[in-house]
Parts: sequence; C-alpha cells; structure tokens
Amino acid sequence: MRIGVFCSGGDAPGMNACVRAVVRAAAERGHEVIGIRRGWQGLLDNEYYGKEHGQLIMDLRSVSGWARYGGTFLHSSRSAEFRTIAGLEKAAAILRRHGVDALIPIGGDGTFHGAVELADYWDGQIVGCPGTIDNDLMGTDFTIGFATAVQTAVEAVDKIRDTAESHERMFLIEVMGRHSGYIAAYTALAASAEIACVPETPTDIPGIVEHLNVLRQRGKKSVMVIVAEGDEEGNAETINKRLIGAGCPYATRVVVLGHLQRGGTPAPMDRILASQLGIWAVHALDEKQTGVMVGRAAGQRVTTPFPQTYAQHKPIPDDMLRLLTTLAM
Ligand code: F6P
Repeated sequence: MRIGVFCSGGDAPGMNACVRAVVRAAAERGHEVIGIRRGWQGLLDNEYYGKEHGQLIMDLRSVSGWARYGGTFLHSSRSAEFRTIAGLEKAAAILRRHGVDALIPIGGDGTFHGAVELADYWDGQIVGCPGTIDNDLMGTDFTIGFATAVQTAVEAVDKIRDTAESHERMFLIEVMGRHSGYIAAYTALAASAEIACVPETPTDIPGIVEHLNVLRQRGKKSVMVIVAEGDEEGNAETINKRLIGAGCPYATRVVVLGHLQRGGTPAPMDRILASQLGIWAVHALDEKQTGVMVGRAAGQRVTTPFPQTYAQHKPIPDDMLRLLTTLAM
C-alpha cells in the first residue's frame, strides 16, 4: 500500500513523532509512505518531503530523531483552495497519479472536514490522527500537543505569579483553545489559578467580583485568572474591562500567551500518544477502515467516524471544574 501522510491546520508539538511512527509502522508492514508538505494545500501544489532529494518515498532514516522536535517538519497550512470543488477534484487526480492508496492526515476538525469532502471525489482510504493543542475532538481522551501546550502555559503562569505576588496584582492570562476551554481549565488547575473563564460554564462577572472581594479579605496577595480565548464573555481584555467596571478589588494586568503555546519540545506524554496514534492509524488502514480518526480512550485504541469527532462540543468533566473551585480558596 502507498500511504500519504501530512500535517494540516494549526501545528501541535508531537506531530513529528506521529509522522515518524507512521513511517516506521508502515515500513514494518511493507507499505510505502509519501510525506506531503504543507497539508491539503501542499497536496494541491505537489509538494513532497523527499522531492529535493530526488525521491518520493520516505525511508526509515527520513524520520530519524524527529520525535523530540516541536512544530512539523512536513510544515502545515490552512487551505481555502482545497475546500472548493475544483480543489477537491484536483487533489483526487494528483492522488491517483501518484498511486496513493491511503491518506493519514494529522490535524484537527478543519483537517477532518477536508477528509470527509475529499471522500466524495477519491475512493482511497483515509484514517486521521488528532493533532491539535486544543483537545477539542471527540473520540480521544487527549489530542497530540495538548499536554505540551498546557505545560508551556503553566510555566508561563508560574512566572507571572512571581511578579503578581511582588506587586499584589491580579493577572488575566488568555490561553488558546479556539471554542474549547480545555487548555484554560487544565492550565488553571495545574498552575493553582484562582479563576478559570471557559466557554463550557457561564462567566458571571458580578459573581467573580464578589469572589475576588472574599479572596482579598482572606489575604490573597495575587490572583491568576485564566481566560480561554473562546469564552462567551469575550477575551481577556474584554473580561478585564468588565471586571474593573464591576468593582474588581485588585489592580490588574492582561497577558495573552498566544502562539508560544504551539511551540517547544513535545512533552513525553505527547511523544508517546503521537507514536501510538501514528502506529494505530497504519493498523486501521490494514484493517480496511476509512473515514475515521484513531484516538486513545482509557488507554485503548478507538476509531471514530470523522463527523462524530467534531459534530459535538467536547465537554470538560464536571469534576475537573469543581476541583478548581475547591482548590482556589
Ligand atoms: O487550533 C489551534 C489554534 O492554536 C487555536 O487554539 C487558535 O485559536 C488557532 O489555532 C490560531 O490559529 P492561527 O495560528 O491560524 O492564528
């Protein structure tokens, strides 16, 4: 079998480990792998990993040492052209021309939407791996990159706490996650933040100010408020203004962590997850599966049809959110 592998959408630490696992698992089973550069767009532009070395197929050594690097050596992109009928027809023709039998896209919901659309124009197999820091896909406990993003955010919050304590200030720290509060909730828990504003629960501005007054009376010198970028009350800047307007008892500052959450050395847990998922994707192809994402739930491999991975908002377990309320006293 000839398998095309690529990374698409926002990059996530661990994507390289996943590609490495795909190449190694494919080699073990006698398959060939083509590394497609720059996601769906690179497919349309005929960009392949080995092209500059005069070879189309990735060999075992192509991925030596990849697991420890962040970003993606295959590069990534978000492609508007691919999602047009002309783009999909062109992609299908290119895949046929190169004799590609199967694709392993590594990405998030946008990537999987693309896979569903391509299936109307191309009859090869498609098995995806969840690669996004957002952890917003159903069908897997965690996505590749989430653990590293949380680690990076926690390190940043710990540093901000030092200066917050010195100046007796409150910081609103905005983290990524698009429409999901997973990064915010996990960062808040791990960094001992006092408050998390996430889209999964209502952000009650007067209620937060009341709570802040209690914290102040209890002698809290600094407060960390972790704001998910997708919170329904707005971003950290907006929430800051509204808290001040409602009588926030602390002097405040706003920090937006931004893309630094997407970079850096993948955490060991992301390397392991990515490696398992890459191998499982190849195994799923051998089992003739298609139109599915491989995930890991309770330690086991699960496969979920693409539409089910993004149709529903992935809930954050209630007990995780309750834990924060108990701890932040
Ligand atoms: O999906 C990953 C993600 O980092 C989101 O958390 C964020 O909203 C978005 O991508 C940012 O996208 P871009 O890098 O295109 O600005």
